[in-house]
Order: sequence, then C-alpha cells, then structure tokens
Amino acid sequence: MKNLFIVYSLLSIFILCSCGGGGSKLSNSSTIPSSAATLSSSSSSVTPSSSVSSSAFSWSSVPALKDLAAFPIGMEVSAADQERSIFTYTSQLPTIEKHFNSLVAGVIMKMGHLHPNENEFFYADADRLNTYAIDHNMLLHGHTLIWHWDSEIPDWMKGYTGDWATMLNNHVKQICTHFAGKVASWDVVNEALDEYDPSGFRQSIFYQHLGKSYIENAFVTARKADPNAILYYNEYNIESSQTKLNFLLAMLDDFKLRNIPVDGVGFQLHLDVFNPSIEQLKQSFKAVADRGYKIRISELDMPINYISTVTLTDSLAQQQKARYKSIVQAYLEAVPVSQRTGITFWGLVDGESWYNYLGSPNKEWPLLFNDDYSPKPAFYGVAEALAGK
Ligand code: G3I
Repeated sequence: MKNLFIVYSLLSIFILCSCGGGGSKLSNSSTIPSSAATLSSSSSSVTPSSSVSSSAFSWSSVPALKDLAAFPIGMEVSAADQERSIFTYTSQLPTIEKHFNSLVAGVIMKMGHLHPNENEFFYADADRLNTYAIDHNMLLHGHTLIWHWDSEIPDWMKGYTGDWATMLNNHVKQICTHFAGKVASWDVVNEALDEYDPSGFRQSIFYQHLGKSYIENAFVTARKADPNAILYYNEYNIESSQTKLNFLLAMLDDFKLRNIPVDGVGFQLHLDVFNPSIEQLKQSFKAVADRGYKIRISELDMPINYISTVTLTDSLAQQQKARYKSIVQAYLEAVPVSQRTGITFWGLVDGESWYNYLGSPNKEWPLLFNDDYSPKPAFYGVAEALAGK
C-alpha cells in the first residue's frame, strides 16, 4: 500500500468534513452488479451482467456475507453521537444487519472514551452498542484497550505521574471487568511494534514508562478480568514487512514460553492492490498460525486510486475485486479452520472510509459497498472467495 506509515502521517492532518458522502459510487457509466450476478454454482467468477443505474438496482438476492462463512464477518461502525453513528444514520442498518454478525466500534471503545478521567470510566455509549449487537445476534469485538495514538490517549494519562504499571493494569482490569460476558474478544494491545526501531518496539508513551512489560501485563490482567474473552494482539504491516513479522514472532514466542495469555493475532490488512504478494500474505498468516494462534483479519480495506482518477473506473473496480478475492482465499488456504476467527471490514461504504478523511486530494473507494449500499465488484470478490467459487 502507500505504506501505512505514510498514511498515519497523513492522519495527523486528518480533515474532518461532512459525511454526506456523495459521488463515491461507481459512475453511472459503470456497470453495477445485477442480481443476476450473484453467485452461481456454474460460474467461477461473477461478472456484472448488465448496466443498470444503482437507483434502479435491487440487490435483495445478493447473498449475505455472513451466511457464506463459518466464522464471524465483522463491520467497523460509528456509534453514540458521532457522524455516521448507526443510531442516527440508520439507512446503513439494513446492509449491516444483512451481511455482518460481528461489530467493532471505530472510536468509542478506545482509551480516552472509556476512561476519560483517572477515576472515571464511561460505558454508556459502548453499552448501547453492545445492546444493539445482542439484539441483532451480533458479536461485539472490543477495540482497543491500549493504543499509542495520541488523540485517543486521555490527557490525564499523558500527564500521569504515579505508578504506570498499576495505573495501566487498573485501566485494563476495570474495562475488561465491565465488559466481561458482553464483548466476545478484545484487541488488548494495538500496534506496539515498530519495524524501524532496533528494539522492535514502538517508542510509545507506554513503552517509555514501562518498556515492553506493559504488553504482557495487559494480557495477564485482561485474562484475569474476563477469562472468557478471546485476547488479541492487533497490528499492521506484519504481512508486508518481514522485519516486523519477525519482531512479532519473537514477541509471541517469548510470551508462549512464559504463558502470557495471547489467544490470537489481528492482521489489520489496510492493503493496496500491489503489496504484499499473496504468497507473502499466506506465509505471514502461516507463520502465526503454525504457532497455534487464532487469526483474525481485523481491519480489512483497500485503497485503489493509484492513478489519481476522479471516479472509480471499471478496470480499477475489477482489480480491487480480484485482490479482495485473493486475500480472502489466502486466509482460507493458510489458516486452519479451527484458527479462523473472523474477517472484519473497516467501514461499510466508500464515502465514509477513513481514507477519505485524510486530506488527500485523491478520492478513495476502499470498501465493499457504494454509498447507496449497492454491492461493488469487491463485494462479489469476497463473496466468491467465501463460497469457494
Ligand atoms: O465524530 C467526531 C466529530 O463529531 C468531531 O467534530 C470531529 C472533530 O475532530 O471528530 C470526529 O471524530 C473523529 C472520528 O474518527 C470519527 O470519524 C476523530 O476526530 C478521528 O480522530 C477518528 O479517527 C479514527 C482513528 O482511528 C483514530 O481513532 C478513525 O475513524 C478510525 O478509522 C481509525 O481506526 C484505526 C484503528 O483504530 C487502528 N488501526 C488503523 C485504523 C485507521 O487509522
């Protein structure tokens, strides 16, 4: 991809604009998959069979992704009073409820939201999301107990002068205790590695105070507070950088020797259509799976606009479809059934993707659905792979 490192730098100039989101669907001249293009047992690829305007298009016969997989199919959502909250921006609900059986909050379950002051935890927004998930037979995945991202660390924590180990353990303990029996799984620690640092560890505020011990402490504390939650270490670029993968494997091997309770690894997979190769992706999955860990694709999306086009061309849309398909196939091929714990997409419709809030002049179309919720070719790539077509 345009290296996530660069993307992260861009995120620092995050431009928040209205989420009205028009104009990111395939142009009218593009073909949009018709219901006839749904999976057919005889065809090995799904090709849009006719050119129909998205407004006239009915996709009631489109297969539900969740019905095609033996593991959870997840969606990142906004909640509470955020823009695009599922509770106010309700037009997205039929699509979410049809295709997904697992939810993750994009923002409201991060550190500063759940723990705004040293002695204050705030659960109402996440509890509401949890109630919605339960009511719709969806799992809730918690994201994330510890993350270095500056705007998500509460100010009180940044200035904390007491004992950091005790403070962070209490953070994890309180939150996991509250959500025990509610969340199915947690990203306990997110993005603690750094392939550019000789130590292998990101020089985050947590690392500066505690060294790498904060990672294992968080897992031990989370397990004690919620013995039933599946505990993940979540990371990006471990599929693209052999150096970072090696750092991850070394950390996992060390943890295994010392019985640190990590159950699985989340591969974020904010990927483009070029890197890594599918072979490298499979090898990365396999290296982690061979060690017995569960593997979740935790934040899948795919920027495609490497030619600075202003509309998504059919050619790019087909490239994206093929790439999505091979990523899902790689997951199915490299990860044993018992270790596949889900694929989560980082957003529903293109216009709302975080890539379109980075301040770049280039529009992006990273997701499976057009802004009117019609499925893109990318959707069919995923569906075909899940269905083994
Ligand atoms: O909704 C509020 C709006 O009401 C307010 O006016 C505005 C003012 O800044 O902020 C809006 O909130 C923004 C929020 O996204 C909602 O879209 C925050 O500023 C912005 O920082 C936040 O960005 C999120 C980012 O993590 C930081 O939490 C992105 O949505 C989210 O996609 C991104 O997700 C990360 C994963 O957690 C970790 N892996 C990478 C991934 C992508 O960067």
